[in-house]
Amino acid sequence: MAIVSLVDISKTYKMGQSEVHALQNVSLKIDKGEFLAVAGSSGSGKTTMLNMIGCLDYPDSGKVCVDGADVTLLKPNQLARLRNRKIGFIFQSFNLIPVLNVYENIELPLLLSTKTAKEREKLILKFIDAVGLGEHIHHKPDELSGGQRQRVAIARALTTEPDLVLADEPTANLDSKTGMTIIDLMLELNQHFGTTFIFSTHDSKVLEHASRVVNLEDGRIINQLEEVTG
Ligand SMILES: Nc1ncnc2c1ncn2[C@@H]1O[C@H](COP(=O)(O)OP(=O)(O)O)[C@@H](O)[C@H]1O
Ligand SMILES: [Mg+2]
Repeated sequence: MAIVSLVDISKTYKMGQSEVHALQNVSLKIDKGEFLAVAGSSGSGKTTMLNMIGCLDYPDSGKVCVDGADVTLLKPNQLARLRNRKIGFIFQSFNLIPVLNVYENIELPLLLSTKTAKEREKLILKFIDAVGLGEHIHHKPDELSGGQRQRVAIARALTTEPDLVLADEPTANLDSKTGMTIIDLMLELNQHFGTTFIFSTHDSKVLEHASRVVNLEDGRIINQLEEVTG
């Protein structure tokens, strides 16, 4: 069953007199358990597409379904619940809270749930262990390397045990070797927990690790098979 389906979505940004067609008639089905890369150069529409899937923004036309629900029909509280329980987010710039340590950063999304402190602790320790940060539980973000910070962000995205994790250029602020270990870790977690991952990148080396690649160009999905047979 598809965890995400985009049906003919378009999004145009207006900047004064000019219009930018960030997404144009994009249709895509993503199955549970995929490790999907969204590739494309800067400005091709990757972030816009991930924001639609993450219910952070709406398309001008077309339909976005996440886990069977048409998100444009959900009420604000239903939408918030979907976002908090079903989707984890990983950002390019890690977005950790500087005054909180590793444990507390990972705990943040769980504070929105009804879980007790004991239940939260079990989940937090499970995912701190899964990303290999057991020795750094009490460290603040500025005491960690870039790769370690992104590991914290990955654990934070997984701690609510979401079905889907969205990562917008998770390796863009890392050197290429560290970036590769981060993608490998995401792949390992995808296989171990069965979590669906959708990540964007413009780094061709990172794409080799994806189970499927969707190529965006000027807001459209370009199908390379058509070019070959065309
Ligand atoms: N809030 C916005 N206002 C105006 N234009 C935007 C906005 N967000 C994105 N765009 C434009 O839409 C296009 C796609 O942007 P984006 O989805 O961020 O691409 P990518 O993530 O692939 O770099 C770009 O031309 C960008 O300048
Ligand atoms: Mg982007």
